[in-house]
Amino acid sequence: MAQKRVVGNWKLNGSLAANEALLGALGAVAGVDVAVCVPFPYLAQAAARLRGVALGAQTVSEFQSGAYTGEVSAEMLADLGCRYAIVGHSERRTLFGEDDATVGRKAAAALRAGLMPIVCVGESLAEREAGRVAEVIGRQLDTVLAVIGAPALARVTVAYEPVWAIGTGRAASAQEAQAVHAGIRRWLGERGGAAAAAACVLYGGSVKADNAASLFAMPDIDGGLIGGASLAARDFMSICQAANGA
Ligand code: PGA
Repeated sequence: MAQKRVVGNWKLNGSLAANEALLGALGAVAGVDVAVCVPFPYLAQAAARLRGVALGAQTVSEFQSGAYTGEVSAEMLADLGCRYAIVGHSERRTLFGEDDATVGRKAAAALRAGLMPIVCVGESLAEREAGRVAEVIGRQLDTVLAVIGAPALARVTVAYEPVWAIGTGRAASAQEAQAVHAGIRRWLGERGGAAAAAACVLYGGSVKADNAASLFAMPDIDGGLIGGASLAARDFMSICQAANGA
């Protein structure tokens, strides 16, 4: 069984003042890897304040250094104490034009710097209704695999985030999510063997304190990627506790 993991994704939220209270209320939970992915400008603040909670970024440059104005490299993130970098979040894909190949190169950049990429995959509502869930996720994962290579799969966290569930209050049911997670687990095992099959597969999309336990109880759901509910310390910590009980 993979290690339980709960990762907060603050998205474009926060201020130095507001973060103080939130960061101060986060803490370690037995048996669970807890992490928060904060906006770049607050990484140093979070690194200084967090105890027993790992740090991550919400995206990363595919480039290491040079004339790439505005980019932040994986090496810089590692330098600031990050352990994780989210890559391929659906908001990056739809709002900022990141395609599957770009997501693969970003995952490779994270791995190169010793970070664990959290590779987000998931279908749109139209794709689900057209019965294309497995095909879409297979394509997203295959493209990442082509860039990073099979041995690296064991060092990746996959986050299944159905686009229709993100920020909508309409989470996938535990059964719907489990069905997709089982497929991702099978894909990992077929491509990367036993080590990859043990990789952590998170569910994301409207996870709240009241639905976390039923999602995390599913055999192939190893934890969650939490957006809105990660902005309230009490909600986020109770989601982490739910992972501990699962
Ligand atoms: P949500 O976001 O929990 O607010 O639905 C999840 C995500 O975008 O990672």
